[in-house]
Formats: sequence, structure tokens, C-alpha cells
Amino acid sequence: MIKSKQVFLNGAYLPVENATVSVMDRGFLFGDGIYEVIPVYCGSLFRFDAHLDRLENSLKLARIDNPYSRDEWRDIMLPLIDATKDQYIYFQVTRGAAEKRDHAFPAGVKPTVFMMCNDIAPFDDKELGVKAISVDDNRWSLCNIKAITLLGNILLRQQAVENDCAEAILVREGYVTEGSASNVFAVIDGVLITPPKSNFILAGITRDVILELADAHNIPYAQDIISLDALKTASEIWFASSTREILPVIELDGLPVANGKVGRLWHTMNDLLQAYKSSYAASGK
Ligand code: PDD
Repeated sequence: MIKSKQVFLNGAYLPVENATVSVMDRGFLFGDGIYEVIPVYCGSLFRFDAHLDRLENSLKLARIDNPYSRDEWRDIMLPLIDATKDQYIYFQVTRGAAEKRDHAFPAGVKPTVFMMCNDIAPFDDKELGVKAISVDDNRWSLCNIKAITLLGNILLRQQAVENDCAEAILVREGYVTEGSASNVFAVIDGVLITPPKSNFILAGITRDVILELADAHNIPYAQDIISLDALKTASEIWFASSTREILPVIELDGLPVANGKVGRLWHTMNDLLQAYKSSYAASGK
């Protein structure tokens, strides 16, 4: 195992302070690249293939060549991991460094690949729930690409933070899309609902796992549109992501969600997710 301060850059492992890229890199100049985040539990890469499917899709849509095979990607990740704690692999691929700044694709450049592994910071008092605000989803319409170009998401998250909220719920033309860095679930009339996959949301891997668990445990669920008005009648609202898992929302736009307490289904689903994570890691996948 390599020490945790090591990162991977363009074919080599090196200390993070020595890992530098050219100022001509298109990731730096244009945000021209894509990324992935894979949780690692007990040394096991959670849903590796699903994350690699999404990586391949992002690369295809961004028209960046995939520099590695799946086995090569896995081999690059493993030495960065400390199996004694919960961590996540972050990696990004940019179009590379060109000689000139020009919006159009440069010819003959090699993608830049950067990867690091960080501890997953436990979310303090998750069981008490968090506050959220609804904001206008003013991002572009290619949100299905996991692009490093995150200024839109960053501005919306910051708006939430400045309103003492943990996350923003993005609303496009009256309908919920997702969070600034998460997917959204709501329990409405006893049914667990999340907006369907489209180019306006990132297809979260945690989202898929939650839907599979609902299906396997006879929890009524649907992938359906949710208006902001309907969201305000929800008995539960959750955010879902690789690094925050499932986060219950107890307040939306300054008003309590239902009775303002974390709901029953969140406890059920959180228990199912924790059990699934353990069994997944134990299966040695
Ligand atoms: N973000 N939607 C957006 C916009 C996201 O940024 C994320 C995750 C998700 C949830 O996807 P997943 O369940 O696969 O993590 C949905 C990661 C964690 C990030 O940017 O750090």
C-alpha cells in the first residue's frame, strides 16, 4: 500500500505536493474534462462496474478517449486505498494540455489522468436530519455527463450553505431535478419517488442502489416527476450520493418536512443500505 499522501498522475504515483499539471491543460483553462467518485468500503470498490459504465458514458459524450481498460483502471486504484477505513476514489480525465488556447478540440493531445483517495468524512448528526432550500436549476442541459465543469453546481451549493442548509434542491420549470451534488427522493402518499433519469440529472449510483433495495424489500417506489408543490407535501425527503449516502431532510425553505423529524422509511432504507454495503464488501467484489 502506498502512503495516503500519494496520488496518481499520468502514469505515476507521486506525493500530492509534486503532482502538477500544465497551465495549458484544458481542465484548468476550460473545465474540459469528466470525473468519477467511487466509495471504498473495507478496501472494496463499491459498484465498480456501475461507476465505470458511467465513466465510459461521460467520456463518450465528452468525446474524450478512454486511456485505460477497466482492469487497468482498477489496478491504478488499488495501491491508493487504505482498507482500514471508509474512503472514496476521486479521478478525473481532462482532454489534455494543448499548445494554444482554442475552444475547438486540439489535435494529438493525450488526456490528463489524475486520481486520489480520500477518507469519507462521517456526516455529523446525520440521524437528526438536515435543512434544504429549493433553488432555480440554472445549469446546462447535459447534467448526465459527470463533467468537472461544476461552476453551476458550486454556486447553487454555496447558496444553500449561506442559508444555513446542507444542500440545495434544484427545480427546473417547477419540477425537481436533483441536489447540487446528490439525487433527491421524496415519500409522497406512501410511495418513494425519485425523478426519472434524463439529461437534466446525473444518474447516481446510490440512487440505483436505493431503487434496487426498495424493489427487493417490497417498498412501493416510482421514478416519476415531482413538482415543487408536491415536494412540499412529502412525508420524507432525502438526498442520496456516494459520499453522503442517504441524508434525511427535516426542513425545506424554512418549513418542517411533515412533523420536522426524520421519517420511518429513512431509518428502514438506511439500515438496508448499511447491510448491503457490508455484504457487498464481504463478497470480495
Ligand atoms: N456527486 N447528482 C450530482 C449533481 C452529483 O454531483 C452526484 C454525486 C450525484 C449522486 O451520484 P452518486 O450516487 O453516484 O454519488 C447526483 C459526487 C459525490 C461529487 O461530485 O463529489
